[in-house]
Amino acid sequence: MKNLTTTASVLFLRAAWGEDTPRAPLWLMRQAGRYLPEYRAIKARASFWEMVRTPELAAEITLQPLRRFPLDAAILFSDIMTPLPAMGVPVEFNPGPVVAEPLRSRAQLEALHLPETQEIAPYVAEAIRLVRRELAGKPVALVGFAGAPLTLATYLVQGSGSKDYEDFRAFLRQEPALAHRLLEKLTELTIRYLRMQIEAGAQAIQLFDSWAGLHDPDTYRTFGLPYNQKVLSALAGLGVPRIYLAVGASHLYSLLAELPCEVVSVDWRLSLAQVRPFFPAHTLQGNLDPAVLLAPLEVITQEAHKVLRAGLGGPHIFNLGHGVIRTTPPEHVAHLVEVVHQFNRHSEEP
Ligand code: CP3
Repeated sequence: MKNLTTTASVLFLRAAWGEDTPRAPLWLMRQAGRYLPEYRAIKARASFWEMVRTPELAAEITLQPLRRFPLDAAILFSDIMTPLPAMGVPVEFNPGPVVAEPLRSRAQLEALHLPETQEIAPYVAEAIRLVRRELAGKPVALVGFAGAPLTLATYLVQGSGSKDYEDFRAFLRQEPALAHRLLEKLTELTIRYLRMQIEAGAQAIQLFDSWAGLHDPDTYRTFGLPYNQKVLSALAGLGVPRIYLAVGASHLYSLLAELPCEVVSVDWRLSLAQVRPFFPAHTLQGNLDPAVLLAPLEVITQEAHKVLRAGLGGPHIFNLGHGVIRTTPPEHVAHLVEVVHQFNRHSEEP
């Protein structure tokens, strides 16, 4: 059942596996969400957890952007915090994740339960199966995802969103042994959770390390890199390309080049041409500044062309540098998709 559509026919998967495709496949982080009125209509009658935990709703929201735009990939509607309640940590959204009792003590960490694969989030597996059924025969890949251990730990220790996550950065220095214990548990959870998604039908996986960029290179080398390596290498050989995303992390690129993944997703701070030399063996994903989608159409055309040209000279999946902003007009997204579709990479000079 898993491979109803073969890799050969899905542009996104070809580029993810390293092919320099004639057109850059595209999808957008947070392509399902609050900028779409049809999402807001569902949101008006269901809480975020209800949407995530009801497979029919999660599948419907996942597919909403695909009904409007000819995107090359769908990303499962869920959240990086989804697997954490199965460890015994209640999570609320307001609108970002809130952990009422931040994890800081040894007793709290030892109490964390490492769930069996089928206990983690069975509704996610069901949502994935529903989406794959809807996409059968279409040239659209389904991307599954999880938060990277360091980024999950950021929320668990800090307790909620914050500008610079000082409490978490202090915790890494004050309690390094506890931090490693937490990261080990999160690593095992993430491996189980992603393997489950692949088993259910996810055709690529993205590891979101949204807060990796907070750290200096030594701290990332100690608390980030080894755990990401462990997660990504546990998914090798499963026939599914692995995407790693860090935001605001240009200072870490020489370390990130060591990660066992096929695709590196980059933010807008450097051009893809500047980033390419760090990742000669990877596909690059990115990297239009999401704020460009708030500008007039001709600016969107210009800026998208800049990204497309900078992405020549190696495999490229077009995306934003981070998620779609809530106030983005859907017509602007439609325009961007058209611009990317019309750009023939093989008739351009690198
Ligand atoms: O289309 C998609 O990208 C799929 C859905 C998705 C959500 N969260 C839905 C969501 C994905 C891939 C995520 C991942 C996620 N969640 C990340 C990594 C990506 C990134 O942005 O760096 C992070 C850091 C989180 C944590 C999180 N969850 C935040 C910061 C927020 C709140 C504010 C926001 O950015 O929207 C959430 C809640 C959340 N997750 C919402 C959605 C649609 C908003 C809920 C609402 O509608 O109010």
